[in-house]
Amino acid sequence: MRKQIAAANWKMNLTISQAEKLVNDLLATAHEVKENQQVLLAVPFPYLSQVEKLLAGKNGVAVAAQNCSNKLSGAYTGEVSVEMLSSLNINYVIIGHSERREYFNESNQLLAEKINMALQNNITPVFCCGEALEIRESEKQNEFVGKQLNESLYHLTPDQLKKVVIAYEPIWAIGTGKTASSEQAQEMHAFIRSELSNKYGVETANEISILYGGSVKGANAKEIFSQPDVDGGLVGGASLNAGEFNTIINSLK
Ligand code: PGA
Repeated sequence: MRKQIAAANWKMNLTISQAEKLVNDLLATAHEVKENQQVLLAVPFPYLSQVEKLLAGKNGVAVAAQNCSNKLSGAYTGEVSVEMLSSLNINYVIIGHSERREYFNESNQLLAEKINMALQNNITPVFCCGEALEIRESEKQNEFVGKQLNESLYHLTPDQLKKVVIAYEPIWAIGTGKTASSEQAQEMHAFIRSELSNKYGVETANEISILYGGSVKGANAKEIFSQPDVDGGLVGGASLNAGEFNTIINSLK
């Protein structure tokens, strides 16, 4: 059965002492993570090891990176490879967040290379997709997201695809306080699953966790996560608050 996932995306926030406090506050109030659930903390690169240490022995809670290089090693100043992440026992990486696509010009083709890198190193990619406001307003969102899936994922075998987590994040809902309605989220998630099903078959499609991202908070998580094709959330702003993020974790199915 596919996992229900609450993934925190801290982005470029917090000093190390603030990060430690947040993790300790989270752990102090956290309930047990159930067998079918997974909690991820996608933290800035310099904090991966320290946060991993703080989480030692906590079942169902793992550290994730927010990005990785499409190159394996070498003269790429400032980049972080999947081998480096593996060597720190990091098992998850966010790939293709809309901020990376927008501010760092990451294309669907480049993201396909990053997906391959992660999978070759047994790291689960959390692959982000989602449309901007003007695309939604012109009702081209399915076509747009379909193309993102096609160009970054459809070269994978069914077994490889089963290791990918997908996060649908409409750009107009990220950090704006404007959440997609639970119907809009369900509609897109069902579309994504039907596309995966057309390409890979229904059994494979049903094994993929599809997270929703975009202004998820304690107050709306339960309703969004209750939708049949929504398997949890990728959470930015609200994940910087221990109480909010715990409420979000407790809203998982
Ligand atoms: P937000 O960010 O929850 O602050 O909207 C979500 C994300 O960018 O992953």
